[in-house]
Amino acid sequence: MSGMTQRRILVTAALPYANGAIHLGHMLEYVQTDIWARFQRAMGHEVWFAWADDAHGTPIMLHAQKRGITPEQLIEQMAGEHQRDFQDFGLSYDAFESTHSHANQALVELIWARLNDAGAVSQRTIAQYFDPNEGMFLPDRFIRGTCPKCHAPDQAGDSCDACGASYDPTDLIDPHSAVSGATPILKDTEHFFVSLEQFQDALSAWIHSGAVQTEVANKLKEWFGERLRDWDVTRDAPYFGFPIPGQTDKYFYVWLDAPVGYLASFQTICEREGLDFDEWMSPQTTTEMHHFIGKDIIYFHCLFWPAMLEGAGFRKPTGVHAHGFLTVNGAKMSKSRGTFIKARTWLDHINADALRYYFAAKLTPGLGDIDLSLDDFKARVDSDLVGKLVNIASRSAGFIHKLGNGRLSDALVDPALYAHFLAQKQPIIEDYENRNFAGVVRQVMALADEANQYVDQHKPWQMAKESGREDEVVAVCTQALNLFRLMITWLAPVIPSTADRAGEFLNAPMGDFHSPDTPLLDHSIEAFKPLMRRIEPVQLDQVIEASKDSLG
Ligand code: MSP
Ligand code: ZN
Repeated sequence: MSGMTQRRILVTAALPYANGAIHLGHMLEYVQTDIWARFQRAMGHEVWFAWADDAHGTPIMLHAQKRGITPEQLIEQMAGEHQRDFQDFGLSYDAFESTHSHANQALVELIWARLNDAGAVSQRTIAQYFDPNEGMFLPDRFIRGTCPKCHAPDQAGDSCDACGASYDPTDLIDPHSAVSGATPILKDTEHFFVSLEQFQDALSAWIHSGAVQTEVANKLKEWFGERLRDWDVTRDAPYFGFPIPGQTDKYFYVWLDAPVGYLASFQTICEREGLDFDEWMSPQTTTEMHHFIGKDIIYFHCLFWPAMLEGAGFRKPTGVHAHGFLTVNGAKMSKSRGTFIKARTWLDHINADALRYYFAAKLTPGLGDIDLSLDDFKARVDSDLVGKLVNIASRSAGFIHKLGNGRLSDALVDPALYAHFLAQKQPIIEDYENRNFAGVVRQVMALADEANQYVDQHKPWQMAKESGREDEVVAVCTQALNLFRLMITWLAPVIPSTADRAGEFLNAPMGDFHSPDTPLLDHSIEAFKPLMRRIEPVQLDQVIEASKDSLG
């Protein structure tokens, strides 16, 4: 590599709940994370992509109960399904663990002990809604009632869908348990709290270190304006989670052990690869830690998590990168409209790289929501990937075989054009680095237009009809295929399996971003294989139909 220092980077995506299938909303985030991780590897950096299933919490416990299985059985089944989806979408993670692991429990207990030592933990009695029929305390989401502000019926215990108000469950009018329907009673319980206020200075410094997007920093400053409330990290039995050491029937709230799962997952990589976990976690480390998350979980990742890390004497994240939400055909994903699309349903009917490409084309560093319009999806894939990019290879490869014995010529006829393409590498790299994948796609497609113009101008199909011009035809197609190779290499983080197949037909496996600095010359290629097909309208119909079937 060109004298640049090699960065050491830990990348994570938010851990999916082991409670249900992966859907395209999740995939937006996981594709974003994977593109960035693949890009960093293609730059020659050391990258570890570590994550897990998020296995704990009341919903998972109740879901397992309902199905008559243990939570352990449920999370095991989910772990298998999730990973098959992730593999088939080409996610290049180095470890996928579960938060319900001994390694995670040991780390949680270590961090908990250090938070206690730092004087960040306090204990007090609170009164909480309790379901007398089920004999359990009720999380806010499992209490329903009439909104105290707008009087909309059947709202959740923490916020109202109708008017957006947030409140305490005890403010609800006519509260009832979503588990049994019973009217909950207030019952006293002893809870542990983690103080955030004592970390306020450290958090402010961290936020100003450039670790978060400007929009997020502004939101956080708002939260700082109010007093930071202590964080309740206790849940009473019955609960599926880690018991709090030295207590009876008290568990850690799932959101305490979930982000620790990032580290526990990374720890397994460290053991396997001989990395020094303690060095990576030291506040003095020169390594980087990047979390990709949705905008709904900013509070957890930008307040609680860095506070925990600070309190435990660990390094804080280098970056927390939040994205907006996925809508389908302009609206929230909906089961009745068939737009609540599971990852598996998509894979059953449509190519994964095509969706990765579409997501990339829409992903910017901001927090805006992203729409998957299925008609627009088809138009983009057909015109960009098939019509522009793959077209360059498919219209050139045949002539190399027909007129050049499958061998590229030994010099570029237009080295200036190649140099012009190479000059676009740096701006493309910058867009990748800043998670402006829309910018990457725009730049590569502008180059694809130029490459097609080059072929159009030289009309190899016409020259091929005139005898004696075989070398010229091969030279033009050699030029075109080398331009194609540049573009497919730079787009490989977005469409990795398509790029791999392109590497096979070029008989030159995809290398890092700098590998095509030197063109492929005097080199035998394989027979061309179709790299990407147009999307048939029926495929889209099938996805919608199948999504209507899979209600619930
Ligand atoms: N388990 C927690 C995360 C713990 S991280 C220590 C969780 N799980 S989740 O399954 O609900 O969501 C996982 C990720 O997917 C989150 O970052 C969430 O924002 C993201 N998305 C879930 N639905 C989404 C969309 N419709 N659109 C985009 N991202 C979405 O939260
Ligand atoms: Zn309301």
